[in-house]
Parts: sequence; C-alpha cells; structure tokens
Amino acid sequence: MDGNGRWAKRRGLPRTAGHTEGEENLAAIVRVAVTRNVGWLTVFGFSTENWVRPRTEVRHILGLHRRLFGRVEELNQLNVQVKWMGRPFDTPGARTPKYVQRAIRKAVADTAQNTGMVLTVAFDYGSRAELVQAALDARRDGEIVSESSISNHLYLPELPPVDVVVRTSGERRISNFMLWQIVGARVYFTERTWPEFGAAELDAALALAAS
Ligand code: FPP
Repeated sequence: MDGNGRWAKRRGLPRTAGHTEGEENLAAIVRVAVTRNVGWLTVFGFSTENWVRPRTEVRHILGLHRRLFGRVEELNQLNVQVKWMGRPFDTPGARTPKYVQRAIRKAVADTAQNTGMVLTVAFDYGSRAELVQAALDARRDGEIVSESSISNHLYLPELPPVDVVVRTSGERRISNFMLWQIVGARVYFTERTWPEFGAAELDAALALAAS
C-alpha cells in the first residue's frame, strides 16, 4: 500500500495523515472486493524493515492496525475472515507490541466462522524471514527441505498462489513480500497512491489476473 506519505505531502499534511487515509481506503477496498467475489486479499501492512521509521510514525501505524483489526462488526457483516501473517510473536527479533497482538488475536478469533473473503494482513512480515523460518521448521519436524516441505511450513500454508500483485504509487519493483507465493503472478502497476486506489483500479487489477 505504497504512497500514503506522498499522498499526504502533496496536500501539505503530515505523513501520519496519509496512513490514516490509507487505513480508511483499505476498509473501502475490502467492501468493494467482497462485491467482486475476491476470495483472498492479502495486504502488506508493516514489514520487518519498517521498524526503523521515526518512532511517532511507527506508533501511528501500529494504532491504525489496532483500528483495522478492531473493525470486527463490519467484517462480520461482510462475512470476511481475517488472518494475520508475520514473525511469530515469540521468535527472536519479533517486535509486535502486546496491544497489537491482542487486537490481532481477537480479530482472527472473532471472524473465524466467516465463510467469505479471507483478508490477510501482513504485519511484522518479511518474505525472507518467512522462508528461513519455514526451512528451520521443516528441519525441526524431521523433514527433508524440499519445495513441498517449505510450502507446508509457510506462515499460512493455506494461502493459495497469488494471482495478481498490485503495486501503487509508481513503484515498479518487487519488495520482500510473498516471494515464494508470487511465482507466476501478474503484476498490476499504477501511478496512483494507495489512498487514491479505488474500485476502478481494483477492477483493472482483477481483469489482469483473469487474463
Ligand atoms: C506505505 O506508505 C504504507 C505503509 C508503510 C504501511 C502502512 C499502511 C497503512 C497504514 C494502510 C492501512 C493498513 C493497515 C493494515 C492498517 P509509505 O509510508 O511508504 O508512503 P510513501 O511511499 O509515499 O513514503
């Protein structure tokens, strides 16, 4: 969801205002995606590298995650199931504060019965960390390291292969996001920042996935 900061800067607002708008837009895009029968929507909310951002910005983004995971009533109305992926809370280096952990656990538990779209939020997530963890876990379980044992030990092995990756705000590179799962995916690039990403853009991305 790139470009929150740029969206704010262009309006003379602090970066945090862009993130707030980004969270609102994610809620809006979830509503649209449900009407388009999207099965799985996975968003990169906070990366393992994002902790180096200024402390006030990090705190603000954490608060927005609590807010998003707190939208349980709305998600239940939409029949959306929430999942989280990222560094397990108890592993070395993992830094998710307790209040975000609680919000994540509650949202996951309180939407577990929903049967519609699965919304996965990647928080404290990095693809390389995920792959290292998968290899270690496969070895711990006495399995040989193979494509299937890595796949089975990803944070969320149930996630299907990615059909389309969306990159907003003119970013034309692949980041540390779902590197294992995006093999063969289409990539939809747009100059629009994340807060400007609307239904028409989502439809264009979905059309690319289907082509
Ligand atoms: C990128 O914008 C966005 C982030 C680092 C993550 C924060 C995302 C949100 C707050 C959207 C809402 C999502 C959740 C899950 C609460 P940027 O800071 O990289 O902007 P820039 O590229 O213009 O600098």
